[in-house]
Amino acid sequence: MRALGTQVAIVGAGPSGLLLAHLLALQGIESIVLERQSREHVEQRVRAGLLEQGTVDLLRAAGVAGRLDREGLVHEGFALRFDGAEHRVDFTELTGWTTTMYGQQEVVKDLIRAREAAGGHVHFGVDDAVPGSVDTDAPRVRCTLGGERVEIACDFVAGCDGFHGVCRQVVPAGALTTYEHTYPFAWLGILTSLPPASEELIYAVHERGFALHSMRTPAISRLYLQVGPDEPLARWPDERIWTELRTRFALDGGAALKDGPILSRGVTAMRSFVVEPMQYGRLFLAGDAAHIVPPSAAKGLNLAVADIRVLAAALSAWYADGTRELLDGYSRACLASVWQGQEFSAWMTSLLHPFPGEDRYAANLRRARLRDLVTSRAAATAFAESYVGLARPRLG
Ligand code: APR
Ligand code: PHB
Repeated sequence: MRALGTQVAIVGAGPSGLLLAHLLALQGIESIVLERQSREHVEQRVRAGLLEQGTVDLLRAAGVAGRLDREGLVHEGFALRFDGAEHRVDFTELTGWTTTMYGQQEVVKDLIRAREAAGGHVHFGVDDAVPGSVDTDAPRVRCTLGGERVEIACDFVAGCDGFHGVCRQVVPAGALTTYEHTYPFAWLGILTSLPPASEELIYAVHERGFALHSMRTPAISRLYLQVGPDEPLARWPDERIWTELRTRFALDGGAALKDGPILSRGVTAMRSFVVEPMQYGRLFLAGDAAHIVPPSAAKGLNLAVADIRVLAAALSAWYADGTRELLDGYSRACLASVWQGQEFSAWMTSLLHPFPGEDRYAANLRRARLRDLVTSRAAATAFAESYVGLARPRLG
């Protein structure tokens, strides 16, 4: 077995792992990133695409927002449709903050290019990485690189390997507490080569289910439909998707949604998950490896970036002067934001979706909440502060 060494071994090259590697490199800290999938796979994987202003600011400060600044679509509000009428929520007027539409896989591409340009080590197709000795001062990761077995000695392991990753599994049972909730529905998402029907997002609440009209570029739209859990895609031929979208987006007296070629489609489960603490010895979990949210509020990527900001600062402090304080407090520093994101995602999920089998009483409560949001400035402001991510920095 060949011996390798680095300062931080990072498992997973999603946004969390790549951003961590980049921020550490800016501080002169070396890392090796190990990713199970191919580069093509991670660059093409379609995920959410709404970046909070704080996320954009961090990417800009890290020097990886050149294309994001050129191509990202800056938004100041969205439309909310229910009961056949449309209402606008001007979140920028309410909070002063904007959001930017830019696909998560574009962030991933930009970060991979930045690592490449800096001569960073990102290894794709590594499907057997296993961290060990994370409860000692000499952790290591064993894996196969280029057909050769290697053992990477490191100071720390960053578990950035998503919900299905290996890092959480090396923590002994009993050291972690998990919290989970699964919703009785899913989102069917499509990408279509059709210019967005509107410049702003449209959230549509319909008795047949929720629908969202979003976009990636001025030529590519992203649409979602609430469907049953584990819905087989085979049951959704193009015509059924468009008919259902037209029905749910219908406005009294409004133009019908146009259909177009579907470039890709997939079903996203609606699940919430948190693990506490987010660290064990010298292993630090970040992003989807530690927590996931249903996609309703598009918080997943933004919460991952928030973790990485804290983790990069804590590791930098340790390497600068040997202080463990920030590292020891990593989990505590992240979890307030994590639970705030959980709460808002759960709240938005319950606001937007008719739950299967719900009675008319529950449906009317949801309507009352929707009306409140479009008639009360106080309610809209509280909502907007969470939506744009302004509520998070207040947690300190
Ligand atoms: N070894 C190496 N890599 C792994 C392993 C493993 N055993 N298991 C998973 N991975 C990789 C996955 O292939 C993926 O590329 O870890 C990466 C994790 O990336 P993400 O799932 O994108 O998680 P994260 O980087 O934390 O980003 C969070 O992703 O799922 C969305 O909504 C979520 O937007 C949020 C963001
Ligand atoms: C998306 O474009 O993927 C998206 C946008 C807003 C959301 C959820 C998802 O609330």
